Amino acid sequence: MKKNIAIINGDGIGPEVTAQSIRVLDTIAHKFQHQFHYTYCLMGADAIDKTGNPLPDETIEICINSDAILFGAIGHPKYDNDPNAKVRPEQGLLKLRKSLQLFANIRPVTTYRSLHHLSPLKAKQLDGVDCVIFRELTGGIYFGKKELSEDKTQALDECTYTVAEIERIAHLAFKSAQQRRKKLTLVDKANVLETSRLWRRTVQAIATEYADVAVDYMFVDNAAMQLILSPKQFDVILTENMFGDILSDEASVLSGSLGMLPSASYGVCTALFEPIHGSYPQAAGKDIANPLGSILSTAMMLDYLGMPKEATKVREAVDWTIQNAFVTKDIDPINFYFTSTIGELVSDYINDKIGGDVNKENVELRKSTII
Ligand code: IPM
Ligand code: MG
Repeated sequence: MKKNIAIINGDGIGPEVTAQSIRVLDTIAHKFQHQFHYTYCLMGADAIDKTGNPLPDETIEICINSDAILFGAIGHPKYDNDPNAKVRPEQGLLKLRKSLQLFANIRPVTTYRSLHHLSPLKAKQLDGVDCVIFRELTGGIYFGKKELSEDKTQALDECTYTVAEIERIAHLAFKSAQQRRKKLTLVDKANVLETSRLWRRTVQAIATEYADVAVDYMFVDNAAMQLILSPKQFDVILTENMFGDILSDEASVLSGSLGMLPSASYGVCTALFEPIHGSYPQAAGKDIANPLGSILSTAMMLDYLGMPKEATKVREAVDWTIQNAFVTKDIDPINFYFTSTIGELVSDYINDKIGGDVNKENVELRKSTII
């Protein structure tokens, strides 16, 4: 197959983790005889520096005309502590989500036995955790009216949802549940918020079309607690934009490292794939960031592009690196491998350059020297 992929490196560690995903994509293309054509475009602080605009029109144009978008990370500390900044990197991502109507953000949460010790939770709570968060991404408080009074003593962020916005993501979430363990939990705050009551009514109505899926409803404060107390109870979690943002970061501690988690954002045209981690500016340019969140996002992209065999191979390669303790500094601060080495190992595995039981000493040379 021939596919056009828009690449948005973004900020901080974005370029270095994305480079490893591209290495993996090139390996897949070679092995399975595909052609991937990449078009690089700007967004975030990088785009502000180069053009003054966090999302140049050209980027939107390229993304709309691509088969998929691979995105690195966004954000720069120089904007974080300046509430008066006129433009912000994040505006680029929010505008891209809105322009492409990327309404469903899908964040799978997987745990790895060999990484259990990194999670603040006990191993017995983590074994067998496997859930996916469907976060609504183009509505709610993120995109409502925003106001600051003239005297700057009062501010407003409005939260709005329509039935149509809820229905389109709910259908995707129910369909996903049908392919999984057939359970869906709607997370809301229906005891307080009108928008949450709209979510509940709409989901209750849709549930009748998916009789094989068991549905339960949970208030967000309780869900935040349940995710930590007994995460195994969840299969598909469906929720609105802001709750999904918060719960997905919380859920990432289950896997042991934020650097491991991928995501996909589906919309009305091109889908976007990105690791859920941020731009991690302290690590930028040091070749120490975990590229697996990005590489696993690439696996989600391959599934989306109709290449399930290829996606499975990438996941198998990632599992192999973790099982053999070829991990970055976030996972093992002493015996760690560089970002680029992990990308290389994943590619070598896909290329069958590494046999089942690898002799660790063979790759020892590619290990970091601890400073
Ligand atoms: C995310 C991020 C973004 C969000 C930021 C960077 C705007 O936290 O993708 O989860 O809040 O949606
Ligand atoms: Mg977030």
